[in-house]
Amino acid sequence: MKKVVLTGDRPTGKLHLGHFVGSLKNRVEMQNSGDYEMFVMIADQQALTDNARDPGKIQDNLLEVALDYLSVGLDPDKTTIFVQSAVPALYELTIHYSNLVGLGRLQRNPTVKTEIKQRGFGDSIPVGFLTYPIAQAADITAFDANLVPVGEDQLPVLEQDREIVRSFNSLYGDVLVEPEPVVPEGNAKRLPGIFGADDKMSKSLDNGIYLSDDSETVKQKVMQMYTDPNHIRVEDPGKVEGNVVFIYLDVFAEDQKKVAELKEQYQKGGLGDVAVKKYLIEVLEELLSPIRQRRAQYEQDLEQVRQILTDGNVRANTKADKVLKRVRDAIGINYF
Ligand code: TRP
Repeated sequence: MKKVVLTGDRPTGKLHLGHFVGSLKNRVEMQNSGDYEMFVMIADQQALTDNARDPGKIQDNLLEVALDYLSVGLDPDKTTIFVQSAVPALYELTIHYSNLVGLGRLQRNPTVKTEIKQRGFGDSIPVGFLTYPIAQAADITAFDANLVPVGEDQLPVLEQDREIVRSFNSLYGDVLVEPEPVVPEGNAKRLPGIFGADDKMSKSLDNGIYLSDDSETVKQKVMQMYTDPNHIRVEDPGKVEGNVVFIYLDVFAEDQKKVAELKEQYQKGGLGDVAVKKYLIEVLEELLSPIRQRRAQYEQDLEQVRQILTDGNVRANTKADKVLKRVRDAIGINYF
């Protein structure tokens, strides 16, 4: 049997190059290998746990994220793309699992702790937010997922999800599949934003290059990129460490021999920032133009995109309902 892969994104904004190298690229490769049964979920319900007062933001980004998925090459014939809130079984599973988790354990979850601090909830942490790791256990187990690609910051959530599975199984029998996280490796781990290598690319810092950015925008962003502040004249020797343009070339350029040559020349002196930036623009254009083309096609037919999600929801519900039945049987509440 093929291993089941499930992953998801909160639709709080459009996806950017950081998402691409950290996860989207890998998902498309897994999909195209044909070795996995793939589910990709738009986690709108989880996004609402800290955006309940601004649901419009989530609604607006739902189709954006779907378009991002389709434009990078997730193929609805191979991957079930669906919307979390359209799968009622997930809510019920969340309730069942919540009986197995202590409040203290949730409060100690390092991911959730950090996110709570970042959001400045003070003493009014939404209960839904604090308990999102439980809901995430529902997302994962509802599909019998074996593998869950996530960013490294999500590892503590996955650890808690595995604990929930083990508690459930030890109480009620071997019912749930214990998932394993899959994290990005090497320089895919953390793509910096355009303004400096210390910050990772993120929506909140407004330092990202989006998959949906047009050529002109990408060009402007690359031209603003942080390089080496001491590299003032072309003849000056420049630093490649911490130089965002070179970090991107390491990640995105196919021709790494050329990148090595450029680095050498830059470090010696005699190579200007603009020349290197122009090369990076070429490299990014090559990556982004097929993505933009696919996006433009789907944007002309948003009805089709909605239909893709509707079909995905049907498939997701069929699978999740089976797991829910197993869970209800195991607990012993299928009385009628
Ligand atoms: N918490 C994940 C994130 O913020 C999103 C997510 C929701 C998810 N449900 C999931 C990821 C299930 C993997 C599996 O990135």
